[in-house]
Order: sequence, then structure tokens, then C-alpha cells
Amino acid sequence: MNPAKSLITLLVFSLSASAFYLPGAAPHNYRQGEKIELYVNTLTPILSANDDAKLKSLINYDYYNPKFHFCQPEDGPQARPEGLGSILFGDRIFNSPYDIKMLQDNATCKTLCVIDAVPPEDAKFINDRIREDYALNWLVDGLPAAEMKVDSGNEELFFDMGFNLGNDDTPNSEHRPTLNNHYEIVLRYHKFSETEYRIVGVLVWPFSIGGPQTESSTCETDSLPLYLDENQTQAIRYTYRVTFNESDTPWATRWDNYLHIFDPRIHWFSLINSIFIAVFLCVMVSMILYRSISRDISRYNAIDMSEDVQEDWGWKLVHGEVFRTPQNPMLLSIMAGNGVQLSAMVAVTLVFALLGFLSPSNRGSLATVMMICWSFFGSIGGYTSSRVYASLGGLDKRKNSFLTATLLPTFVFSIVFLLNLCLLIAGSSGAVPFGTLLLIIVLWYGVSAPLSAIGAYFGSKHGAIQHPVRVNQIPRQIPPVPKYLRPWSAALISGILPFGVAFIELYFVMSSLFASRAYYAFGFLALTSGVMGLTTATVSILFTYFMLCAEEYRWHWRAFLVGGGNAFWLFIYGIFYWASRLSLDSFSSVALYMGYLFLLVLLDFLVTGTIGFLASYWAVRKLYSSIRID
Ligand SMILES: *[C@@H]1O[C@H](CO)[C@@H](O)[C@H](O)[C@H]1NC(C)=O
Ligand SMILES: *[C@@H]1O[C@H](CO)[C@@H](O)[C@H](O)[C@H]1NC(C)=O
Ligand SMILES: *[C@@H]1O[C@H](CO)[C@@H](O)[C@H](O)[C@H]1NC(C)=O
Repeated sequence: MNPAKSLITLLVFSLSASAFYLPGAAPHNYRQGEKIELYVNTLTPILSANDDAKLKSLINYDYYNPKFHFCQPEDGPQARPEGLGSILFGDRIFNSPYDIKMLQDNATCKTLCVIDAVPPEDAKFINDRIREDYALNWLVDGLPAAEMKVDSGNEELFFDMGFNLGNDDTPNSEHRPTLNNHYEIVLRYHKFSETEYRIVGVLVWPFSIGGPQTESSTCETDSLPLYLDENQTQAIRYTYRVTFNESDTPWATRWDNYLHIFDPRIHWFSLINSIFIAVFLCVMVSMILYRSISRDISRYNAIDMSEDVQEDWGWKLVHGEVFRTPQNPMLLSIMAGNGVQLSAMVAVTLVFALLGFLSPSNRGSLATVMMICWSFFGSIGGYTSSRVYASLGGLDKRKNSFLTATLLPTFVFSIVFLLNLCLLIAGSSGAVPFGTLLLIIVLWYGVSAPLSAIGAYFGSKHGAIQHPVRVNQIPRQIPPVPKYLRPWSAALISGILPFGVAFIELYFVMSSLFASRAYYAFGFLALTSGVMGLTTATVSILFTYFMLCAEEYRWHWRAFLVGGGNAFWLFIYGIFYWASRLSLDSFSSVALYMGYLFLLVLLDFLVTGTIGFLASYWAVRKLYSSIRID
């Protein structure tokens, strides 16, 4: 097979399989009777199964939040050490009192504990969480406990991570939520050798068992459900039953059932849509530019040869202005530097994800890789910022290098800090702990900032980019430009195309960010991002060209705005997503959503704006170095 063909096969494979990953940790072989630890993670709100369901909260709660009254281990819950990314993404993992031993007590009903007195106000708290569709998240041998569900699209079985705290959907005579206090746990194991077994699947079916909540173990799942009374103190009994079920799934593919992609056709459709837009755009633009520019150039040069009186028109008129220092070159170069840093981070993270390094069994690896990349690419950011600054004619190099290293991190950090306060007030465990905040500060100001300063040093050593034409002493008058070339309308119009490329894939990204839906279609995401970057660059170049033709030479900021235009649409889409998929009832959830949306929009604006600005810069240099000026 020729290399191109095999590359395409590989690409298609990694796209359609998408469950392509490297198994993170080494497998654990259990012997018969060996203890299997069950770890508990935070409770998260989930989108319930029906299609018009809305997410009702964005706040996570610790499993051992005293209001839930879950059974605790004898010597108190102990936190498991976790990675940075895992903590940032809201994981808080503790041990649990479940007594599970490999292939022992198969299908035996056990009582975990009886909670004697749940006060009415806590019963109300639990009922409220059930109404908000909270789910329990357990981990066994690194695998999340899941409910088995059927994809209504293609009838495939898949594992849906997490299972409901209670039930509020099924209409019952009481019109009250029921609490799940019995868990049917099915551990799927694979026989590795005569004496060793590996866990390859963890399924949980939660049930609500009413009646007297006393010690005696009955796991009759068809009895009346348990309602929590919000008027009086009551007891809750927690029971469970573990069933071991042999499976042919080998350890290496045990994640396949979890990494289910709902309706992969939508992703394909999205990809084809974006490629179609991009190809259409590129062909159109290159045709326009090629024809008009080559005509312009030959005309200019011909005139220069034959006539003494030089007659200029179009973009050549402003050749003495295009490289004039724009307003506020400091801010522009800082934004470009940070934009390049972010773009590099996104690109490298996507490559890592594509190569399967971000194994789902290695929780939070995505966030960790992003943080580390961001820190190390401080050098690229500093370098770019200082060179752009020098090219724009800026003089205060030290201030530039200092602000590049600190401005964005401080801004982002302040917002995260405020959101954290919101979470703390709401009593959520999603708040980032103090130690982690400290670690982030150390990463940003201890690693990223010095690297940025080093980058800035090399950048200023390489100095300004040479411009093909000189700047006139006296600025030209700018004639009135058409409405569609005014900065804000240009940004809004031009943002539609890159946004149109990405918006279907964006829906899945939003769902995974806000509705804790797992997202594993990294192949699609990487291609879509690439196409979006290309579209952004093309659109910015096109608008810059139109602007110069209209003798509006202040293109620097406009190119940035035009490139970042899709961020406005992203914001509008975020509001639309809120209206259609979320029904947040608490102020903290709303603040959280708006805060994260704002950060997302800001980062998107910086990345795409920088792409637009740098692409236009490149094009303007090319354009003006192709003509002769006397
Ligand atoms: C709880 O008290 C409220 C008001 O006092 C009453 O309307 C409601 O019926 C009571 N619920 C139960 C289950 O007793
Ligand atoms: C455990 O019990 C279930 C149901 O009784 C049975 O299907 C399964 O084969 C048993 N597993 C083992 C390992 O004995
Ligand atoms: C155990 O596995 C068999 C075959 O894979 C399946 O039919 C059965 O439903 C499983 N039992 C449980 C309790 O999941």
C-alpha cells in the first residue's frame, strides 16, 4: 500500500473508531478473594435521557457532604491523591466502605449501613438534588461505574457513566422524588490466567427500596420506593449486591463501551460541512485575489515604465501608510503574543489527544497537558509579542515583556478566583482547593513568566520585521469607507464563516464542558479546528485587502477584530445554548455559566484574532513587496 493511502486509512480509522487511546496504567491482576476498592467521586448534575431534558445545575457536591448522609468508612473518608488536571476538572475522590472481594459473595445481598436520623432539612436538600438530576460517580479499578443504556439512534448498547441519585421522572402517586438506596453492582471480569482476573466493566443499577429501614438485609427490588419526608426525621438503609459476570472483553479494550459516540454521522456531517465552507471560501478568495492583484501589479508596473506622471489608485495609494504604527501597539502585541501561546497550546493538546495519549483512564490528563503546554509556550508568546511590538514601532520593550507575561494570567486568574468564591458560597466541592490555586500560581508566575521573559529577550534580539515600503511623514486623509468595512460590522460579518465551520462540533464541546458528557471525538475536533483556523486566516486577508482598496490603512486592529469575529457568535451561541439546554435555578450556577462562557469567548477571541492579524500581516508584506515604488 502506498504511504498516502495508508495515512488516509489511519486517519479514517482514528476518526471513526475515536475510541483510540493508549491504556494509561498497567493492568491490575486480582486473585480470588482480593479486595476490590470502590472509590467515590463528586456528585454531578447530568442531562437525563429524554431529548428535551435541560441541565438544571452546574455545581458539584462532595460525596461525603454531610447533608447527603451517605455511609462512611469506619475510620472516616480518606481522599485519594489526584493530578492537577483532575482536581481542576472537579474530581474529589474518596474511599468507601463497600466490601467487595474478587469472586466472593457472588450475588449476596448486603447492608452497607443504616443512617438513623436524617433531619427534614437534609431530606429537602437530597430531594432538591434528585429533582436536579444529580448522579453518583464511582470508580472501580479506574473504571467509572456506569448504567447500561441503548443508543436510540443505532440500537447499540453503551455504558453511560454515572447513575442517578434518585428518580423524579416516573410519575408516582406521591408526586415526590424517590431516593435510590440499593445498588445492583455488576463487575465484569476477564479471566487472565487460572488464578488471576482483571476487571473490564463496572455496571450499576440503582433501586429505591421503601418499607421499614432496618438492619435486616432484603434486596427485594420490586417493593415500594423510598420517599424522603421533608417534615420529619427518618432512617435510610443502604444495601448493595455485587454480581460477578465473566466477559470476553480483554483488558486492552475495556474502555470501548464507555467511549460511545452518539450518532457519529453528525460528526461526519459537521466535518463535511466545514470542509465544504472552507474549500468554497478558499477557492473563491484565491480566485478574486489572484486575478485582481496580478492585474493591479502588472498595471502599476506598466504605468511606472511608460509614463513619468505616476498615477496611483487602490491599495497602492496607501503604501506610505500601511506600516504606520497603529494605536496602542502595546496591547496589540501583547494580545498577539498570548494568542500565539494559546494557539500552540491548543494545537499540541489536540495532537496529543489524536495520538491517544490522553487516555480516559488517566483522569484529567487533558487539563494537565493543557496547563503544562501553556506554561512552556510562554517562551513562544514572549518571543512573538516582543517581535510584533518592535515591528509596530514600539519602544518600551521591558514593559511589553512584563505585561505579556502577566496581564492575561492575572486576568484569567481573577475570574477563576471570583467563580471559586461563588462555588464556595454555594457549598459546592467544585471549588478549587487552596493548594491547587497555589500550584497554578507557581506554574504561571514561576515557569510561564520567566520563559516568556526569555522568549522576549530573543525576540528583541531578532528585532523588528523588515517592511518592504517606508512610512510617509504626513498621514493621508482617509476617505469614508463603506458600512460593511467599519470595524464592528466587519467583525460580525466575517465571524460567520469560521463560526459556521465549527458550530456543530461546538455543540458537543459545550455538552462535555457543561453537561459532563464525555467527549472523545478528538479526530473530528482536530480537523474542525484546522479548517476553522484556515477559514479565519483567509477571511481576515480578504477583509484587509478590501480595506486597503478602500484606502483605509488602519488595518492592524481591524484584522485582529475580523479574525476574532467568530467569538461574538460564540457568545450568542452560548446564550442560545443556555436558553435551550439549561434551566439553571441558582445564582451560583448562572454566575458559573456566564463566567466560563466569558473565558471561553475571550480565549477564542485571542486565538482567532491572532490568526487573523498574523495572516493579514503576512499578506500585507507580501502584497507590498510585489510592487515597485520609486
Ligand atoms: C408537610 O408539611 C406541610 C406543611 O406543614 C404539609 O402541607 C404537607 O402535607 C406535609 N407533608 C407530609 C408528607 O406530611
Ligand atoms: C454470580 O451469580 C450470577 C447470578 O446468580 C451468575 O449469573 C454468575 O454466573 C455468578 N458468577 C460467578 C462467578 O459465579
Ligand atoms: C452476565 O453476562 C451474560 C452474558 O454476557 C448476560 O447475558 C447477563 O445478563 C449478565 N448478567 C448480568 C447480571 O449482567
